[in-house]
Amino acid sequence: MNNIPSDKPAKRAAFGSKLGALAATAGSAVGLGNVWRFPTEVGEHGGGAFLLIYLLAIVLTGMPVMLCEFVIGHRARRSVKLAIDHLSRGRRWGVFGRLFILTSVLCLGFYNVVAGWTLGYFVQGAAGKLGQELDHTALFAHFSAHTWWPLLCALAFVGLTHFVVRMGVEKGIERFSRVMMPTLLLLIGAMIVCSLGMPGMREGMNFLLRPDFSKVTGSVVLAAMGQAFFSLSLGLGCHITYASYFSPTTNLSKSAYGVAAMDTMVAVMCGFFIFPAVFSVPGIEPASGPGLAFITLPNVFRLAFADIPFLGYVFTLMFYLLLILAALTSTICLHETVTSHLSDELGLPRRRSAILVTCVTAVLVTLCTWSFGPLNNVRLAGLTFFDLFDHATANLFMPIGGIFVCLFVGWQMRRSDVREELSHNGRINERLFAVFMFLIRYIVPGGIAAILINSFL
Ligand code: PHE
Repeated sequence: MNNIPSDKPAKRAAFGSKLGALAATAGSAVGLGNVWRFPTEVGEHGGGAFLLIYLLAIVLTGMPVMLCEFVIGHRARRSVKLAIDHLSRGRRWGVFGRLFILTSVLCLGFYNVVAGWTLGYFVQGAAGKLGQELDHTALFAHFSAHTWWPLLCALAFVGLTHFVVRMGVEKGIERFSRVMMPTLLLLIGAMIVCSLGMPGMREGMNFLLRPDFSKVTGSVVLAAMGQAFFSLSLGLGCHITYASYFSPTTNLSKSAYGVAAMDTMVAVMCGFFIFPAVFSVPGIEPASGPGLAFITLPNVFRLAFADIPFLGYVFTLMFYLLLILAALTSTICLHETVTSHLSDELGLPRRRSAILVTCVTAVLVTLCTWSFGPLNNVRLAGLTFFDLFDHATANLFMPIGGIFVCLFVGWQMRRSDVREELSHNGRINERLFAVFMFLIRYIVPGGIAAILINSFL
């Protein structure tokens, strides 16, 4: 049994079941990055060869960082900043707790914009607009630069997130995750089945899986590590927050394994329906990012199902619903990280802190949405608000956060406390534990620092 610090806060929310906790935590990791970024990265960087490197990056860097976050949250049973303060034993590490909160808030600002686009495209798809023959590049440019529509969609998404978070950890986050995650898997399964008969099946699978080691370079290895990091939602305290709600008997290593496996599986499976569709339409190149999700794919789905337009219609709706669910489970986790921080730090009731977070998010979301429209000319360091928040979090704050959690658990926390958190029913594999400590003290922080430096070269 884990030894919980005796001065823990009296009444703390918790997940009601281990399965629910896993669904919520995996949901925080599974996001837009899994659907539009991962498959293309694999295809472009050597297929199976990249997949192999990515799996190594997940096991050797992603899972250790996630475990460090779990150890901090589970040990302290507090929200991010207080957890770090509590375990700092008099040292001033609290500033990193604040950095986590800042990173989560900035992430909410830009992530909700893209999440809002998925909502907007779902509505346009439902109205049958995406099934018509039209210039999808122009449609996307027009939609994203509009003053009100994308803002309305993004704010609706923020409202959706607020609705779930406000209901609490067990009744809101856990209950919804238990429905959303299986639905997400079902949707992916159905889309794979629909794309089985497509003419581009073989070429698509080759693009995704055939190992080409000639494409593997140093920067590809760093790209794999960067993608693993972003995809697992590391370095901004999300997992510290959720682990503080885990049951005391939760097996942390098993949970980290489960989350990483689920995240990777979803990412690979998305490639199984995206590329067969893309390669079924002659002359189309697989792009990445918003271009893939909002320009290439709606067009591809229409053409790939030209014989059965109704199937194309359903496929398109399933795709945007998939994106909505993936994004929502991520925004919920980001929102919860900040909400629980405000509740604990300022002693505010949960509902009030949720409202506060939602209001701040709404302002940032407006700035980021208008980065594509009325505020496109406003630049800080040459970047729009959207790009600035995106780059600052993904390229700077998240890697710094990752280095911090490793060094914190590796050097600042008592080794005996870490061992206790990682042992299950008093059992621990000493050799694996030694390897873990070596990784988080030296290898992982060094690796992340390499990504960080590389991104600025
Ligand atoms: N992991 C999410 C994705 O793959 C992104 C994310 C990062 C979500 C950080 C929450 C926190 O899209």
